[in-house]
Amino acid sequence: MKTLLITGGAGFIGSNFIRYLLDNSDYSVINYDLLTYSGNLDNLSNIQGDKRYTFVNGDICDRNKLNNIFHSNKIDGIINFAAESHVDRSILDSQPFVHSNINGVVTLMDVARQFGIARFLQISTDEVYGSAAEDQTFTEDSNLIPNSPYSASKAAADLMVRSYVQTHHFPGIITRSSNNFGPYQYPEKFIPLIINNALEGKKIPIYGDGSNIRDWIFVEDNCRGIFEVFEKGKIGDIYNIAANNERTNLEIVHLILKLMNKSTDLIEFVKDRPAHDKRYSINAEKVKSEIGWFVERNFEESLEFTIHWYMENKKWLESITKKTKFTDYYKTQYGLA
Ligand SMILES: NC(=O)c1ccc[n+]([C@@H]2O[C@H](COP(=O)([O-])OP(=O)(O)OC[C@H]3O[C@@H](n4cnc5c(N)ncnc54)[C@H](O)[C@@H]3O)[C@@H](O)[C@H]2O)c1
Repeated sequence: MKTLLITGGAGFIGSNFIRYLLDNSDYSVINYDLLTYSGNLDNLSNIQGDKRYTFVNGDICDRNKLNNIFHSNKIDGIINFAAESHVDRSILDSQPFVHSNINGVVTLMDVARQFGIARFLQISTDEVYGSAAEDQTFTEDSNLIPNSPYSASKAAADLMVRSYVQTHHFPGIITRSSNNFGPYQYPEKFIPLIINNALEGKKIPIYGDGSNIRDWIFVEDNCRGIFEVFEKGKIGDIYNIAANNERTNLEIVHLILKLMNKSTDLIEFVKDRPAHDKRYSINAEKVKSEIGWFVERNFEESLEFTIHWYMENKKWLESITKKTKFTDYYKTQYGLA
């Protein structure tokens, strides 16, 4: 049986991916995660007894701990989801982003090289391309022009992966997806924040005038894309993954409030984020034509599914908000306590 090392598997996309992998492949999984504020083992509670699943608590910067895993297991590939992932937090403090998103990736690649790993997939983001003009859509060959410390740290990691491929013939591949939504997303992120604040009757903060555009993909579609790229992608290549659901932030809030039958009075416009990217837009033709990936899930239906999931999983949300010490900034900015 083949074994994959999934790093950052206790977070939003990683936990959805591990479930997808166990349901759709014969792989065994070692989930290696530091359990930062956004990592939560409750995200995987329904697979705890699975014989193909093991959890190890650790930092991707911890070379000794990673060495131990490789010494005691035959690892057939690595998929790295581990990262600091929230733009606002990177504006408050960039250091954890440099630690996990850059140093962590380099450490992981060094250990992978030492043990001759056959495939290494780095999970990146459309944010590395920066803000798209009205008539612009980025391909994998577009320039990297990141504007936030978060996206700059992800772009730096992408360049380190590229350099290892060129310099060391390292078996690196990169996926860059658009904004994900779905179950188990930490409630500081836009869509779960709207749903949860609406459920609690709290104000829903929108940056600026709400005209910033994001391209949304249901997390399951991205997980299937990641798996297919891991299996069939060409070493050294980059694959954009997107479902072409571009919406302004204001449109998203209106849609969710309508689906939840809640009043738009909850909307509150707040001071804009510094260097707020106006629009994200990526072209996903390569992953479709070369890998055979396609979008399976309808946007509005998966949004409704997501809303119902949060409504039915209030306990999950309460456990997260209890264990997290939100800073004053988060309390005022997001209405979370
Ligand atoms: N959420 C999105 O919309 C989106 C879109 C494109 C790309 N991505 C990328 O996908 C990946 C996963 O994002 P997410 O939304 O699931 O994030 P998340 O914050 O929910 O999860 C990140 C996970 O990484 C773990 N982690 C952080 N630092 C670590 C370290 N040093 N060592 C080990 N584990 C560590 C955390 O404990 C957590 O479980 C990230 O690399 C992110 O940049 C996310």
